[in-house]
Amino acid sequence: MNIKQLLANKTQDAFIKLGLPAETNPAVTQSTRPEFGDYQINGAMSAAKQLKTNPRQLAEQLVALLALDDLASKVEIAGPGFINVTLKPEWLAGELAKAASDARLGVSANPQPQTVVVDYSAPNLAKEMHVGHLRSTIIGDAVVRTLEFWGDKVIRQNHMGDWGTQFGMLIAHLEDKLAEGVDLESVALADLEDFYRQAKKRFDDEAGFADKSRDYVVKLQSGDAHCQKLWQLFIDTSVKHSNEVYQKLNVTLTDADIKPESAYNPMLQPIVDQLVAAGIAVEDQGALVVFLSELADKEGKPSPFIIQKTGGGFLYATTDLAACQYRSQQLAADRIIIFTDARQALHFKQVELTARKAGLLRADTAYDHCPFGTMMGEDGKPFKTRTGGTVKLAELLEEAVVRADAVVREKSSELSEQEIAEIARKVGIGAVKFADLSKNRTSDYIFSWDAMLAFEGATAPYLQYAYTRVRSILRKAEVADSFQAPIVLTAEQERLLAVKILRFEETLQQVMKDAQPNLLCSYLYELASLFMTFYEACPILRERFNRKVSDSRLMLSILTAKLLRQGLDLLGIEVMERM
Ligand code: ARG
Repeated sequence: MNIKQLLANKTQDAFIKLGLPAETNPAVTQSTRPEFGDYQINGAMSAAKQLKTNPRQLAEQLVALLALDDLASKVEIAGPGFINVTLKPEWLAGELAKAASDARLGVSANPQPQTVVVDYSAPNLAKEMHVGHLRSTIIGDAVVRTLEFWGDKVIRQNHMGDWGTQFGMLIAHLEDKLAEGVDLESVALADLEDFYRQAKKRFDDEAGFADKSRDYVVKLQSGDAHCQKLWQLFIDTSVKHSNEVYQKLNVTLTDADIKPESAYNPMLQPIVDQLVAAGIAVEDQGALVVFLSELADKEGKPSPFIIQKTGGGFLYATTDLAACQYRSQQLAADRIIIFTDARQALHFKQVELTARKAGLLRADTAYDHCPFGTMMGEDGKPFKTRTGGTVKLAELLEEAVVRADAVVREKSSELSEQEIAEIARKVGIGAVKFADLSKNRTSDYIFSWDAMLAFEGATAPYLQYAYTRVRSILRKAEVADSFQAPIVLTAEQERLLAVKILRFEETLQQVMKDAQPNLLCSYLYELASLFMTFYEACPILRERFNRKVSDSRLMLSILTAKLLRQGLDLLGIEVMERM
């Protein structure tokens, strides 16, 4: 059920009857204040302008044509022509009954499944995943889960950085280590970070090492077997590390989703040739460059986009052009979504413009780069370890579980050690994820252990706890998930909870459209809060003698529990039966 869509459709039909073009915007929104009812239809004002009539009069005509008597208990015209709609308890109850007997919880069938390629996580290899990789990984995964629940065909693409110049330096260093006779597994690859630092130091300080490294990059990229063998060692080790993190994070990425930069190698030269032949790329100081006047600066100087370096090397940019072609043509993507930090915004604009000019992207493939802000420490600076190093993701997650363990122990006394461990894992990981997912993607946010592990406010522990409370009510009442009874909404708290329950689909649509899981986070928090208000005002177990009332309220509780579980699952956050 999508109430907003339903009202929009009805309004559009009415507009047509009034002689307006079919695409006239009905401007239906959820009401922002209770005195405006549940939904507002705001399209009368601009429609009146088009028809050159009085907006209030048009609103009246519209209300008559809409014939909302079945679903609304009140339809009011306010101000210059706003139409405020308050939904009828009986109608809401009917829709809830449908949702209660539906595995999709009332979310309608996807009328037009799309193929959506989602590029997320994409760590640069030969380094362990650090906090900088968290946002792309979990925001991307939440969007992927939501699209799949909706019924789109999702193709995950983990565009791992496995082909950059850093590999020349790593191979050169590894070669020297091997010559010294060190054992590969134990010394070289056990601590990738450390190994990387050593190589980087030599690259910066040691005469001749940088040249040797550059040599190795060229060799590697032109298929030299020895270099490729050493390179593969780094890749395998890093991928193993990433998989451990994905598993801890409850992220759905697998090896099958890895389509790394190196995979595009054979496509690069032909694409560059094609761009040159088409006159899109031109030579400039030995390099091949696309000059984009669309992105010109204030002085009108076009934005340069280098696709091949002097000396023939390819770049991150070239690989992304190839990725456009592969995804749009081979994978037949209707939409490509890419999650990276905001600093790459210009890069992806350049990629899209160039790819469209060159026909690498089909005209009907949407290309959405979804940027996100930086995770900051409590001092307001980018999040670092106490000694100023980058925070390894695996270590951060371990700390989360340890801290959650303490919080869980404080809260409850009747749990076994095994239960505590399990709950602490879910709460700790859930807290880190929810804290991140609940922020507006595009802004920076401050990472705070205390805030994310609190049982008050919009946090994972609050929602997980709310879920256990509902489940405990259902256990005490001895009803199963499949329990069915008529729903009767009497109290306003019941009605408000009902409206919220029926807004699940609207929320998911918005999450998918804007790639913003924070909207689902807010929805779940509001749902849980409305449930708590309802539960205080409308006793359930104490009313067991008044069976009809109590049964109806149990139905609301079951729906709330199912939605919390489903919604958190779309965020990749686990729930538990008790805590
Ligand atoms: N590896 C890149 C980074 O760590 C992200 C890659 C994103 N995807 C892409 N198609 N460029 O910043």
